[in-house]
Amino acid sequence: MKIYLDGEFYEKENAKISVFDHGLLYGDGVFEGIRFYHGRVFRLAEHIDRLHDSAKAICLQIPQTKFEMIDAVLATIRQNELQDGYVRLVVTRGSGDLGLNPALCPRPTVFIIASRITLYPEEMYRHGLHVVTCATRRIPHGALSPMVKSLNYLNNVLAKIEAQQAGAGEGLMLNEQGFVAECTGDNIFTVKNGKILTPAISSGALSGITRQVTFEMAAELGIAISEPDMTRYDIFTADECFLTGTAAEVIPVVKLDSRVIGDGVPGPVTRALIERFHQLTETTGTAIY
Ligand SMILES: Cc1ncc(COP(=O)(O)O)c(C=O)c1O
Repeated sequence: MKIYLDGEFYEKENAKISVFDHGLLYGDGVFEGIRFYHGRVFRLAEHIDRLHDSAKAICLQIPQTKFEMIDAVLATIRQNELQDGYVRLVVTRGSGDLGLNPALCPRPTVFIIASRITLYPEEMYRHGLHVVTCATRRIPHGALSPMVKSLNYLNNVLAKIEAQQAGAGEGLMLNEQGFVAECTGDNIFTVKNGKILTPAISSGALSGITRQVTFEMAAELGIAISEPDMTRYDIFTADECFLTGTAAEVIPVVKLDSRVIGDGVPGPVTRALIERFHQLTETTGTAIY
């Protein structure tokens, strides 16, 4: 495996960063997870835009332009001769001293890993996931914008641990007001009376790229979509529920906190979206080779 690190490619065992890197010491940095299918990178420009927005919001100057970053992602996949897989792109504040001061980190660290990923077993896409509500709340906007895809994922990690301890496939995260925000690594949607609902970004959700694709697919399919304040009640009483994310794609949810959602099987809207999503990943994207 060849890893991109600050403009050079290294074998996996030689791709090393300093223990003084503030990405490691303080979670000070931003990242993206990007998928490629059949030799094409899905929604690459959108991911690079979000990376730059995340960096701008935390006063981190990415050394590469957006075009250079796109080239670096494509070059990393080419170096590994992959057609299908997952890219992890990370930009940290770089090496400094042991204090917080980011001004002492002269150069951000940029690394790109192109590999494979399977988040959920195939049967979960056919039968649906069980989700539990986590006690750990989503980070409030006033502390750190949930829009920033930062290296501070500890609250999501803690929520994931809760979900795993409960034997669930994903954990539902609420915001400080008790409204639904999202899951630990995915956005959440319901279907009620033929209409799609999803919490607004202001609820504490990440502005997911797959979430945006879902809005586009719903428009194509002529299904109305809205972004109300949502509580667990709205999920308990929904006809269908599904999650979206780069790694998870579109995955059905059939249970929340032991309440069966709808008929307890993936519903027709979810299935139509999964099918359309696969068509999009097969037919669109930035060519790698
Ligand atoms: C907290 C969180 N919410 C939602 C998502 C889904 O976003 P996307 O569709 O851009 O992968 C992710 C994954 O990136 C995430 O980490």
